[in-house]
Amino acid sequence: MLHPHSKLRQSWDILIVLLALFAAIEIPLRLSLDFELPRWIFFMELLITVVFSLDIILNFFTSYYHGYKLIADRKLIARHYLRGWFFWDLISAIPFPLLYSAMEEPILAIKILTLLRLIRLFRIIGFMNKLTRKNLVNPSILRLCYLVFWVMIAAHITACAWIDLGSGNAANTNAGYDPSDNVRNYIRALYWTTTTMTTIGYGDISPVNNIQTVFTMFIQLLGAGMYGFLIGNIASLLANIDIARAQFREKLQKLNIFMNYHNIPRSLQEKARNYYDYLWHSRKGFDETSVINELPPPLKVELSLFLNRRLIEKVDFFRDARQDCIRDIVLNLEHVVYSPGDFIITKGEIGNEMFFISRGAVEVVSDDGKTVYATLSEGNFFGEIALLLSVPRTASIRAVGFCDLYKLQKSDFEKVLNNYPDFKTHIEKHAEERAKMPK
Ligand code: CMP
Repeated sequence: MLHPHSKLRQSWDILIVLLALFAAIEIPLRLSLDFELPRWIFFMELLITVVFSLDIILNFFTSYYHGYKLIADRKLIARHYLRGWFFWDLISAIPFPLLYSAMEEPILAIKILTLLRLIRLFRIIGFMNKLTRKNLVNPSILRLCYLVFWVMIAAHITACAWIDLGSGNAANTNAGYDPSDNVRNYIRALYWTTTTMTTIGYGDISPVNNIQTVFTMFIQLLGAGMYGFLIGNIASLLANIDIARAQFREKLQKLNIFMNYHNIPRSLQEKARNYYDYLWHSRKGFDETSVINELPPPLKVELSLFLNRRLIEKVDFFRDARQDCIRDIVLNLEHVVYSPGDFIITKGEIGNEMFFISRGAVEVVSDDGKTVYATLSEGNFFGEIALLLSVPRTASIRAVGFCDLYKLQKSDFEKVLNNYPDFKTHIEKHAEERAKMPK
């Protein structure tokens, strides 16, 4: 039984899409321009017939997902396939295109049946969904390419239909159709399609018979609708290509309007903008805590551990700590950013949290901020004395540059201390040493 996401199935799907694409280009051209079937195209058609037929067999042996459940039961797979794509896959595998070429005077029914091979192209929908889920390319860029692809296929088929509907008409030759120059005929038909679909309609190429006139009206109506749909879609896709940047720009714009409205002094405005600049450059403006909080607990743990891997590597205690202790601490950390010169802790205040430094540095300073007792950098922590000894803050802490800190609330700190004596010993050792230092 083949897994739908296995390498073999994925490579096979790519082959099917490529062959379907080849058929979608070649068949309309051959039906409209009526050229002699070259040998290589004959072999390609033969190959397509064989591969499409094998695909039907393979589909009976490929498991599928029903919601999140993988169905691998042969009977269920067969029922699912027979009720789904089987009929269309069967029709597109019958070698009508070869039959069409073999007939001296092909009848209209064979022409229509030949076109049925194009149905396989719709398999690209499932293929694109799988590609989007893989998140390898920006989804907006992918959707834009997808849209352009379908427009090009629609234009190609319309151009071929236009040639076909006008062929055999004497007036067609006067209208510029040259039976000996297929390249010119195709380019002109494509030109007619583009001008009609985009509602430009120069009118230099016009219908030569009733059926072409009706077809023109149909394409004109379709084109007007499609044009509006396309422009709307392209505009929204372009705006969403970098959705994080767009949202962040909007936030900054709102902040600027707010600050101007309240006549905030220029220097303070600059400080707020610098903070936003830092947020953008350090984490694309995302608020980690709110993103993570939307996830279910097991995923939250994995993501938090991954995001905090820098901190876990740097803090001495974490390096040797038990996995469950790290997990319990990391899950309760809240990310905060401070700007240069900000006082994170003021001496004498009641302390309600301790901090771990993930990025940047802080200074331990006197009440007036003039004497610097120590500088703490990445991997260090502070604010533990007030929590451990239930005393007011013993010193002030000032951010040197922009600082990324992780805050642990007093209640969570106490829970961790009770559950993990190793953590308690480590923190107490630091607190005792620091408490003895001159301040
Ligand atoms: P707390 O008293 O809660 O708040 C201020 C913090 O500064 C204190 O906890 C310690 O974590 C830290 N601290 C105080 N003195 C020093 C020092 N000399 N060296 C390093 N850190 C200190």
